[in-house]
Amino acid sequence: DITERLRTQHALEFSQERLRALSRRLLEVQEQERRRLARDLHDDVGQALTALKIQLESRSRVEECVETVSHTLERVRQLSLSLRPPQLDDLGLGAALRSHLDRQAALASLAPHFEAPETPREIPAHVETACFRIAQEAINNVVRHARARNLWLRLFASGARLELSVRDDGGGFDVAAARRRAAAGASLGLAGMEERVALAGGSFELRSAPGQGTVLLASFPLEPREKPQAA
Ligand SMILES: Nc1ncnc2c1ncn2[C@@H]1O[C@H](COP(=O)(O)OP(=O)(O)OP(=O)(O)O)[C@@H](O)[C@H]1O
Ligand SMILES: [Mg+2]
Repeated sequence: DITERLRTQHALEFSQERLRALSRRLLEVQEQERRRLARDLHDDVGQALTALKIQLESRSRVEECVETVSHTLERVRQLSLSLRPPQLDDLGLGAALRSHLDRQAALASLAPHFEAPETPREIPAHVETACFRIAQEAINNVVRHARARNLWLRLFASGARLELSVRDDGGGFDVAAARRRAAAGASLGLAGMEERVALAGGSFELRSAPGQGTVLLASFPLEPREKPQAA
């Protein structure tokens, strides 16, 4: 009947609008990442190469030029690591997370604590990527906002799920207020993490209070392996 049809129509329009909003925000996140990369390329690599050009034009000592080249190489290495760490493809999620955590913690003078008891060997690629990106942003947030001393990262399998937790002993924050600011477009980090988890079919939880540190929990379903068809 007509009310039923109208209700279905409304539900459809609602979910289409949600999808549009989701794609819009995904595009924004992508654009923001590109902006960051463009800035890093321009500021670091561009500047270093300009310096090298001046050194060469003024016939500087070879040692000085070599030093500029080494510095540039190191920046390019860092940039490419932050785009897609090779460990993720070569050594798997656990190793990639551990090395990322150690590197960021060293830069920010934080004590890293990594724990990964019995992670399954076969994690679907899209779950690996989502999990790594979420940990990356969570660590980024701890470094930028938490004023913490310790940073704990735990990766473990529980039943058919992969669980990630990132915890700090920093200043904490008002999650509801931050979510409201994020929804109003003030930041992209939290929204991006939530979307990645949702796209991977997982769930996401953030617990924090001013003065009490922060813990982020993300949980992903590990698809069951295809069962052989019964004859
Ligand atoms: N671990 C944390 N400790 C303290 N405050 C945090 C932590 N994580 C997030 N916050 C707070 O939540 C806010 C929103 O985080 P979000 O990642 O969305 O934005 P952002 O890091 O400020 O910017 P970006 O869009 O670059 O990620 C932060 O500005 C910060 O105030
Ligand atoms: Mg952030």
